[in-house]
Amino acid sequence: MPSIFVFDAYGTLFDVHAAIGRFRGDAGPDADRMSEIWRTKQLEYTWTLTLAGHYVEFWTLTERALDYALARVPSVPKTLKAGLLDAYFKLDAFPDARAALKALKAAGHSTGILSNGSPAMLKGAVDNAGIGGDLDAVLSVDVLKMFKPRPEVYALVTNHYKCAPRDVTFVSSNRWDVMAAVSVGFCGLWVNRSKMPDEYADFAPERTVPDLSSLATIG
Ligand code: LAC
Repeated sequence: MPSIFVFDAYGTLFDVHAAIGRFRGDAGPDADRMSEIWRTKQLEYTWTLTLAGHYVEFWTLTERALDYALARVPSVPKTLKAGLLDAYFKLDAFPDARAALKALKAAGHSTGILSNGSPAMLKGAVDNAGIGGDLDAVLSVDVLKMFKPRPEVYALVTNHYKCAPRDVTFVSSNRWDVMAAVSVGFCGLWVNRSKMPDEYADFAPERTVPDLSSLATIG
């Protein structure tokens, strides 16, 4: 039966560590640590600002998080900042993302993105990955001026598709994002790429997969 598959963007369709991957030769031995701190701080800023009732768009938070990460890991040259930001704007998709979207579309399902990303950066990444033709909708939290995991954000999906929460399969590699999706009644699909232990036991995903390739056979 046709269903609605909605994907998280950063970490799920797009590889957030692809930016540092393009500068591995210049970034030195602490490159991966810097990239981890960059991602962790980027998310932390979304949570703390949302809890405090503020909103600063995701691109600005991405730049501020990079400034912080570069300050924390001084062995990575600060001269890489502009290049890293440019790479993040045009982030690479995971190799399995395009095939999964294509297969879902071919099977008659609807496909979309729900992301913290600002519209401009989502367009940059979608265009760079060449997956726009396989997506029906790219929904950004920017219309609400609040970030995941606020329930209002997930309601953007049911409002857009004019559907019930149970009609939506929400696909994310971020377990906290799956928790929030399950808590509003979506069917959660956790992409556990890095083999993390499970958490949020009260909000279990319907299914856990190691990557997006298994989506191509969901049919
Ligand atoms: C997003 C973040 C959570 O794309 O990765 O919404």
